[in-house]
Amino acid sequence: MNEHDSERIAGLLTADGYVPTEEAADAEVVVFNTCAIRENADNRLYGQLGRLRPLKMANPRMRIVVAGCLAQKDRGLIQRRAPWVDVVVGTHALPSLLELIRRAEAEGPQMDVREYTEIFPSALPAVRGDRHRAWVSVSVGCDNRCTFCIVPLVRGPQRSRPLGEILAEVQGLAASGVVEVTLLGQNVNTYGRDLTVPGSGSRSRFAELLRAVDGVEGLRRIRFTSPHPHDFTPDVIDAIAECERVCEHIHFPLQSGSDRVLRAMRRSYRSERYLSWVRRIREAVPGIAFSTDIIVGFPGETEEDFRGTLRVVEEARFDSAYTFQYSPRPGTAAASFEDQVPKEVVQERFDRLLTVQERISLERNRAYEGRTVEVLVEGTGRKGGVQGRTRTNKVVHFEGTEAPGAFLDVVVERAHPHHLLGRPVPAWDRRGRALVAAG
Ligand code: 5AD
Ligand code: SF4
Repeated sequence: MNEHDSERIAGLLTADGYVPTEEAADAEVVVFNTCAIRENADNRLYGQLGRLRPLKMANPRMRIVVAGCLAQKDRGLIQRRAPWVDVVVGTHALPSLLELIRRAEAEGPQMDVREYTEIFPSALPAVRGDRHRAWVSVSVGCDNRCTFCIVPLVRGPQRSRPLGEILAEVQGLAASGVVEVTLLGQNVNTYGRDLTVPGSGSRSRFAELLRAVDGVEGLRRIRFTSPHPHDFTPDVIDAIAECERVCEHIHFPLQSGSDRVLRAMRRSYRSERYLSWVRRIREAVPGIAFSTDIIVGFPGETEEDFRGTLRVVEEARFDSAYTFQYSPRPGTAAASFEDQVPKEVVQERFDRLLTVQERISLERNRAYEGRTVEVLVEGTGRKGGVQGRTRTNKVVHFEGTEAPGAFLDVVVERAHPHHLLGRPVPAWDRRGRALVAAG
């Protein structure tokens, strides 16, 4: 979500005639788009602002902007600690960015940390890092109160974007050559809960959204992130199974495998229910890949709780996992829990979890060896070859010259925990297969 906002910030500035520069000293506008979800963004921000101060003294035309979660959270504190900051723009106020910069020039420091999103970030111009893949925000904010999470405090309650607006954006993207969209929402599967469809009296739902986006001509792949296990519903499984463009990959955040910890996190599912969703989804969508988020060292987590997480990880057999060490976020409930776990204990558990998951990721990837997969080319890989991605979200490296946006079949030759190595299926073979298919 934060990166998506950055594309919009770049889009607004570019539309106003600004051009990017590599050198901060040359810049007329410097924007820090902060994300406070896991790390102490404030230490880094104030460090960076300190380094920028002499550059601003030397270049009085420079305007410094602080945007994002930290701007929303710290508000007036930012300009009190760093009075050389010209604009503080919160998560809901991005559309006023240019106006704030202009006013700062005439009137001095500005701040807009309004509490309510009127214009979705996706409705603003964007400079996208990728011409073939795009994020589309379907909702902002979150109505849950997971005790570790700062998101509801900085993004506010959930607001869904009308289906028609989302479709119009996706159609526009497809018409301009985008082949893959990722639908974004903090709690994507409660999309529409806050939205009444005019006329019908019924509520719009996430499965309907998937089906509607699946009908967009020109699109090849649809992804979404992240669904909440508590709000998961069978109609979403049907939509994934039946919609041709919806990819066989689901990011399904577990957070912990201990029911006691899940309760303390205020995650209202339990490990058995989580695993039963995993089983049902796998049955309905054969070959689907799972990724997850796991937090290690939540306050009060015992060795026994942690073993619960390892058990669920062994059973769920995730293709990949984003693993995080718990970090107290200011203003969240868990930050004031008493039994914080010592750093060394967290580190030791974290390393064990990583070892287990690396083994499982490798085992999952080994199952691809010898198989032919459809790959969407993303760009140049680390060693000069081509890097692409399967529908199941596996990174594939191979020799070739295909440009980003191309689709091709690749035979997987070797698996690693985080990527696959492959060889493109020769053109004659592809034609041969096409003839067989046609004939
Ligand atoms: N500490 C560690 N990880 C966190 N996450 C969110 N808040 C915290 C925190 N305070 C992780 C969760 C979430 C992901 C986006 O970031 O696993 O799913
Ligand atoms: Fe944060 Fe996700 Fe929980 Fe919402 S559902 S509070 S965004 S972790």
